[in-house]
Amino acid sequence: MPEYTLRIRRYDPESGQPPYWDEHTVNLEGHRSVLEGILQAKNESDGSIGVRCSCRAAICGSCGVSINGQSGLACHTHLDKAAAHGRDGVIEVEPMNNMPVIKDLITDMEAVHWKKIQRVTPWLIHKEPVPEREYIVPHENMVDITQSMACIQCAACVSSCLSMEVDPLFIGPAALAKAYRFVGDPRDAAQEDRLRDLAEDPHGMYDCTHCFSCIEACPKGVAPMNQIMRLRRVAGDHKIVDRNNGHRHEAAFVTLIKGYGLLHEAELLPRSYGGDSWFGKFHPAAGQELLSSFPVVVKGLMRRKMNPKIALLGHKLDKPDLNQVKSIYDTVHGKDQRNELNLYISGYDEDDADGSGDQVPVGGELNAGNAPDAGSPGLDAEDSPTR
Ligand code: SF4
Ligand code: SF4
Ligand code: FES
Repeated sequence: MPEYTLRIRRYDPESGQPPYWDEHTVNLEGHRSVLEGILQAKNESDGSIGVRCSCRAAICGSCGVSINGQSGLACHTHLDKAAAHGRDGVIEVEPMNNMPVIKDLITDMEAVHWKKIQRVTPWLIHKEPVPEREYIVPHENMVDITQSMACIQCAACVSSCLSMEVDPLFIGPAALAKAYRFVGDPRDAAQEDRLRDLAEDPHGMYDCTHCFSCIEACPKGVAPMNQIMRLRRVAGDHKIVDRNNGHRHEAAFVTLIKGYGLLHEAELLPRSYGGDSWFGKFHPAAGQELLSSFPVVVKGLMRRKMNPKIALLGHKLDKPDLNQVKSIYDTVHGKDQRNELNLYISGYDEDDADGSGDQVPVGGELNAGNAPDAGSPGLDAEDSPTR
């Protein structure tokens, strides 16, 4: 039987002692989980190891930990794979980040994760009038929100979120994915209010830095960052202006890349705060923001992360390359509707229903932008009803 070494971070805040590392050797086959390893160590050598678990099958969401610095489920990580990524083959197990520790590997989910979930009103606010029988929801709407509905509330994404590390008040990936579950649901009456609320909150949807870390951590393929991008797109479609200028910042990126083919850093901030006009470029808010960014700019120049000539004068692709970039914009903007692959329901149906020999895509290639929004005529559609 193979042997694995687990290095577990131990900490009991009530003891007054600092955290320490504790090593245990376990004998299990490589395909068994890290959770099984921890439980063997607990049963056979130290019953005081604190760990939370229940289903042992990646369903209940209770065994979230950090393994070799990567947040995830202990019951969903094989010992052999974890050892292959560990330093000298040792599997390091720590409690999740961004949450207080109750004991050893047990974190206080109530203090952070559940508080943030409550923040987004995690229930459906039904529309009036209530139908006599059930609501009929178009199939494509359900496809659109299925990915966010797959969440098991393990908080691995919260633990891995870099923005939350910097701003603990950030609503965070799990709660924002939950918010999209209702924003994208045509039965919900509060779509506009939810979007406005999440856009205006300085710690809301525009606080995400698009780092992909939550996508990597999520064991259920929810891809929280993608749900946040969907929220932003719907908010943009509703012309919701946020107090962080997040929407303008995104728009500035898009127009700068279209114009130069590359990012023109010196114009990004003024455009984000001021707009495209010359007057806009000198908007007072932009001045304030530029001033507050001055130390970062100086540091960047001193560490040669920034080239002053390029930063100030900008840089541009050669004409043929720039034309190619522009043609991408033309193609995308020339479409009647934007298609986005819903990764959770991608792939092809094994059964070739029409016998044509063609593969049948499963689920939808659609996004919040083209899914019928609340109040659209699609609501009454009777094809493929899902309740
Ligand atoms: S993509 Fe956004 S929400 Fe996800 S971990 Fe990064 S900052 Fe956090
Ligand atoms: S989005 Fe994924 S990682 Fe985050 S709580 Fe839900 S299941 Fe866990
Ligand atoms: S024990 Fe239930 S998800 Fe791991």
